[in-house]
Amino acid sequence: MTNPDESSLYIFLLSIHGLVRGNSLELGRDADTGGQVKYAVELARKLSVQPCVSRVDLVTRQIFDTKVDRIYSQSEEQIAEKAFIIRLPSGPKRYLRKEVLWNYLDGFSDQAIQYIRRAGKVPDVIHGHYADAGYVGAQIARLLGVPFIYTGHSLGRVKRERLLEKGMNEPKLEGRYNISKRIDAEEFALDTAAMVVASTRQEISDQYSAYENYDPKRMIVIPPGVDLEKFFPPKRGFKKSNIEQELDRFLIDPKKPMILAISRADQRKNIESLIHAFAQNIYLREHCNLVIFAGNRDDINKMDSGVKKVLTNILFLVDKYNLHGKAAYPKNHKPEEVPEIYRLAAKSKGVFVNPALTEPFGLTLLEAAASGLPLVSTNDGGPITILENCQNGLLVNPLDTAAMGTAIQSILEDKNKWLQFSKNGIKNTKKHYSWMSHSKLYIKNIKRIINLKHYKKNIMVGSGKKLTKINKLIIADIDNTLLGDNEGLFKLIERIDEAGEHVGLGVATGRRLTSAIDVLNKNGVPNPDLLITSVGSEIYYGKGLVHDRTWHNHLAYKWQPDLVREVMQKIPGLVLQPEIDQRKYKISYNIDPETTPAKRKIIGYLRKQNLQVKVIHSHNAYLDILPIRASKGLAVRYLAMKWGMTPEQIIVAGDSGNDEEMLRGNTLGVVVGNYSSELKHLYGKPRIYFAEQEYANGILEGIEYYNFI
Ligand code: GLC
Ligand code: MG
Repeated sequence: MTNPDESSLYIFLLSIHGLVRGNSLELGRDADTGGQVKYAVELARKLSVQPCVSRVDLVTRQIFDTKVDRIYSQSEEQIAEKAFIIRLPSGPKRYLRKEVLWNYLDGFSDQAIQYIRRAGKVPDVIHGHYADAGYVGAQIARLLGVPFIYTGHSLGRVKRERLLEKGMNEPKLEGRYNISKRIDAEEFALDTAAMVVASTRQEISDQYSAYENYDPKRMIVIPPGVDLEKFFPPKRGFKKSNIEQELDRFLIDPKKPMILAISRADQRKNIESLIHAFAQNIYLREHCNLVIFAGNRDDINKMDSGVKKVLTNILFLVDKYNLHGKAAYPKNHKPEEVPEIYRLAAKSKGVFVNPALTEPFGLTLLEAAASGLPLVSTNDGGPITILENCQNGLLVNPLDTAAMGTAIQSILEDKNKWLQFSKNGIKNTKKHYSWMSHSKLYIKNIKRIINLKHYKKNIMVGSGKKLTKINKLIIADIDNTLLGDNEGLFKLIERIDEAGEHVGLGVATGRRLTSAIDVLNKNGVPNPDLLITSVGSEIYYGKGLVHDRTWHNHLAYKWQPDLVREVMQKIPGLVLQPEIDQRKYKISYNIDPETTPAKRKIIGYLRKQNLQVKVIHSHNAYLDILPIRASKGLAVRYLAMKWGMTPEQIIVAGDSGNDEEMLRGNTLGVVVGNYSSELKHLYGKPRIYFAEQEYANGILEGIEYYNFI
């Protein structure tokens, strides 16, 4: 039960990519270790000190790689009394950029489920950050029946539009960014989310609105918190710091007002426009210094091509405009020096500039503001609200370099204006953007969603009895997998028999219970140890065919069968299957492949009618509509959890679309040789073995391949 009394909230944060650790975050070291990582770590800490919170886990990927610090391989790191970073293995051991993590996410979900089971406590909420963790979090939240919170941080559809505008073509978008995987993951996350946390209203209305699962009712704005203990205005007479000495090496007159930019060396941060703006404005060139911190570097030649391009351009432009002595671009700075950098700039009566092409969040703006620096910022996303709330600077079109220069000049020229902006920033960051106000609003909303009725009863981990004796389980689809070749079937059954009582057999089928039993018996298959029927919407155990009520009740979430049927009537090419094949949690159609629209279109159409369901397509002949918490895959995971089995103890075998979800992830997947075309795309995915042999012989081949018995 998730009915938290005071001091019992267990919050599960997921932020999978990048380098995540408790201290000295390596922000800017690469494109994946930036504001989001920082936010997630701080959020974990700050939520954990709230009295009603018992524990916060920040769950991320475990990395064993000599190129990165050893701490990233540590499975648990305590970062506050009640906050922990938990690292789970997924895919290869080495560090991977986020664009290539997709194939390993199902495995990550399985790891997370096992972690939760080992810990013996179901989180009260799961909060996924970015598309990757959105996918994983949504999957486990569906399984466990707990509320899911989603924060996109930046969104694939927005990025896609922007890159297309810039002239990038579709194949490149896919090749480099895997953009459609990302968008699918985001849709899946939004589809599941009980609450979407955005940092600004603009993010909701301009960015999330591009999604099929856009539902503003479930979206709230909780502005990011800035750490006011670290970011505060300069005090009188502080002594010369390392950073100041570093800047002295670049600048002829370091006392001039600083025009400061701090960001990753990322094309989208648009640092180049700021250099143009500075160089082309006579006043700025005369009276100010330009100071750019663009991440850290040792040897530019050894860096990612994108980063390399940005950094060489900076050097090139400084030289082109002959800004030597007026521009500083230090190679290195430590994260703990960042507050000092802002204070230095504030002390010089300078300005902070964020020229990014897009800025969903804008944490640096808040840090600068809290340090007393006026702002000139891109008129995109987060900064719009920040400036509205803080009243401490000007918005500009990031591509209009002349306007950018004029805006900066107008603040620096006018002492009163500078002072007013500086004061407003300090005052209003306290008012609107403290971590305290962030955490309080966050917790208040969590409590609200936890109390929604469909989360009242979640699936308990470790509640079920251990399956007596069985410690290895073969779960096979029936039609065209187990059945189809009687000789093979006979061999398979013999093999399982010989292996003894510790190897169990289960089936997972689209058929209803009676029809499954009939066809099995007709083919000489003894009653299996368990049956997952009606495409994962029902589960039965043992000789007595005991129905799993917990699973049944779990599926009711968001299920509106009458409405689904009504809406589906309008889709061409569908004919309802006979009444006997319609189940409480399964609506099935036969389809005419000529006239039925693609699955994506059908899902999109249902979403438009506000219906959240799972659509499963098999053999180009059947279409099943299920509740979002149902599928053969989730049913298998539920069983594994209930019986305390690891995915490695389970072989799953199938041939068609309704088997896909159970084939993915860390279970040992076997696709039989006679598989249907909709499974082709699973080829090469981790732990999915494509057998050469057909039907039951394929399963046998898989058993040998995995050395299972
Ligand atoms: C089985 C079921 C049918 C379902 C199909 C695909 O044939 O009887 O209802 O549509 O599997 O899952
Ligand atoms: Mg089949």
